Amino acid sequence: MKTRETFSSGLAVFFATLGSAVGLGNIWKFPYLTGQYGGGAFLLVYLACIVFVGLPVMLGEFYLGRRTRRNAVGALEKLAPGTPWKHIGTIGVAAAGLIMFFYSSVAGWVYYYLFKALRGDFAAVTMESAKAQFGALVVSPVTPVVWQAVVLAVVAGILIMGVKKGIERITKTLMPLLFVLIIACDLRALTLPGAADGVSFLFAVDFGKLSAAAVLTALGLAFFKLSLGMGCMITYGSYFTHDNDLFATGAKVALSDTLVSLLAGLAIFPTVFAFGLEPGAGPGLLFMTIPLVFSQMPFGAILLTAFFFLAAIAATTAMISLVEVPVAYLSEEKGLTRSRAVLLSVAVIFAVGILATLSVDKGSLLGGYTLMGRGFFDWFDYISSNIMLPLGGLLIALFIGRFADKADIVRELSAGSPAAARLLPVYFFILRYVTPALLLVIFLSSVGVIKL
Ligand code: TRP
Repeated sequence: MKTRETFSSGLAVFFATLGSAVGLGNIWKFPYLTGQYGGGAFLLVYLACIVFVGLPVMLGEFYLGRRTRRNAVGALEKLAPGTPWKHIGTIGVAAAGLIMFFYSSVAGWVYYYLFKALRGDFAAVTMESAKAQFGALVVSPVTPVVWQAVVLAVVAGILIMGVKKGIERITKTLMPLLFVLIIACDLRALTLPGAADGVSFLFAVDFGKLSAAAVLTALGLAFFKLSLGMGCMITYGSYFTHDNDLFATGAKVALSDTLVSLLAGLAIFPTVFAFGLEPGAGPGLLFMTIPLVFSQMPFGAILLTAFFFLAAIAATTAMISLVEVPVAYLSEEKGLTRSRAVLLSVAVIFAVGILATLSVDKGSLLGGYTLMGRGFFDWFDYISSNIMLPLGGLLIALFIGRFADKADIVRELSAGSPAAARLLPVYFFILRYVTPALLLVIFLSSVGVIKL
């Protein structure tokens, strides 16, 4: 029998899980959504969503994984054999694909910008040329596809090396580096003239700006950020060490991940204001602002490279966790070797992901193909983040809160956890009532059953 791999220490568990959480969500989605939905008030709602919805589901996923030591589908099959609960895992494998279709596309832009920064393309960048360079990229039928392929090749390479030699080694080396790089970028952004406006935009709370759409988006973002609702944390949990304190891991990861989002916001918004850009500029925000900030200043070229390098790290460690979901499933349930499972997953992602890449912009090759105003890229993002993740999260909350064996959960969650005895009653209360209610609302409103 094959022995199943696990991470080798608590530190490895932390960095791998943080590597999954920290990603384009922090550096790309969080700033542009906070920009679009009006700053501080959105941020507060987001924090509440992390605590009351994100963390409870995260712990539930850790439980499912570590208790069963199986992939997302196998874990539920083991705890509830012969029931439809295993489709939580099936939805998860599908969601991993959908997310990767557009995520690998944006990651491709990041790799390309890293390459451009190294080549010196931004040496004399102006606001107009920053916009023009991004505009040219998203309508090109070749460049973004090539970089998407590069991204997927890197991800495949890491995953083929395995859980310890691939995922663990890469995340343990790169996550600390990411923190150093992001702080260096912050120090520069915060000393720009006019930076204070950006800081106050991020932190000033104005509830008047808060719409129902903003609340729903915050909840969706919290899920996306913590890699929840599709079995990613079930899969990683299945590699956790047996004595890891799951409460502590969950709390540390959520806290550090939020810190990275804030640090990214602090690098981006001061720049936006210092240069008079539009904070609600949308998905291109990062790509148009960052080259501007770091151009025309001493050591700017180095910082610019540092920034895109850290974004590439974040994207890559998140993608390996996404692709690990189908890889673990295919190799454990369908009997594929690990390498074959990786290659098959990546091939499917590339084939369909091209559709996302070529439909980002109205002017892209497939930009004209839209349904209800959305192209492929937007549909993949919308269906996964707004429908599948909340649905998956809801089902996980219901399974853990109402179906699974409570004593078993208590045993697993209190292993190695001094705080567990105090937190468990609160945990079950939130998971049974608060989390499903909130998730049900977001799900029903995403599919249009209720209008908020
Ligand atoms: N959390 C990552 C980010 O913020 C993305 C991610 C990785 C993810 N694994 C996931 C999102 C699983 C949803 C589900 O970029």
